[in-house]
Amino acid sequence: MTITVVGSGKVGASVALNCALRELDDIILLDVIEGLPQGEAMDINHQLSERGIDSKIKGSNTYEDMKNSDFIVLVAGMGRKTGMTRMDLLKINASIVKDVATKILTHAKNATLVVVTNPLDPMTYLALKTTKINKNKVLGMGGMLDLSRFKSFIHDASGCSRASIQAMVISEHGENMLPLIRFSSIGGLPISEFLSKEQCQKIFEKTKKVAAEVIALKGATVYAPGNAVATMIESMKKNKKQVIPVSAYLDGEYGISDLCLGVPVVLGSNGIEKIIELELNEFERKIFDLGVTSVREAINLINQK
Ligand code: 2OP
Repeated sequence: MTITVVGSGKVGASVALNCALRELDDIILLDVIEGLPQGEAMDINHQLSERGIDSKIKGSNTYEDMKNSDFIVLVAGMGRKTGMTRMDLLKINASIVKDVATKILTHAKNATLVVVTNPLDPMTYLALKTTKINKNKVLGMGGMLDLSRFKSFIHDASGCSRASIQAMVISEHGENMLPLIRFSSIGGLPISEFLSKEQCQKIFEKTKKVAAEVIALKGATVYAPGNAVATMIESMKKNKKQVIPVSAYLDGEYGISDLCLGVPVVLGSNGIEKIIELELNEFERKIFDLGVTSVREAINLINQK
């Protein structure tokens, strides 16, 4: 079996590299741009050779090559530029995602699909509806990336080891992101044992905004997204049953139906094996509901087209 990464720009290449370094499988990097996926594949294969890793990376411009894949990572589309929100990419990326999803339906409809293209939650929904793949096998990578930033700020503020920090971020991968201070911990202890309310408030805001800062500085976020996708695929491939926030199709969970949004799930060999429903307080629920409204409006806009 194979992992196919559709879109071989910087994020796609980082996904391939991170999956390869964990020896998850052979990988096909697929892109419509001739030469780019082949060049990235060569470069990664050179690194793997020196590391003694036998996974093979192949560059391709042919969608048919995805046919034996058990995982497809959909990264294709335009990236966020300085000053843009993720939602600003809705129209342009909806047509790209629809097109790629149609190819997946033709060549790899039994694969598990991990969506990375922004705006993440509406694109996950669109990919799910177009491919008609079962709802437990279509998931968006957003919360895992957001929590890597949340953890980084908790580490900076507390000075405690990164290895001791557990965190959770749910809702929209966008303006209504919800870092859950109340459900995050250091060494199993509440964050309030280590940080003041003011520090927590700052971390909450910084987690929401930091991707835009990275984009303004270096043009794109690359390494953290690649790692997040690899962690999700590893949990499914190895049936590790890690609890990870992903954009999942809600079918009554959290009182919401027919929408994809970031929630904590158990990831195992059956994909999303369980959606964990947290009891949110009034403040958290308000942000969660803003996320629901934002994603619902985006889906309505796509459907109107
Ligand atoms: C990120 O958060 C841009 O959604 C992308 O890094």
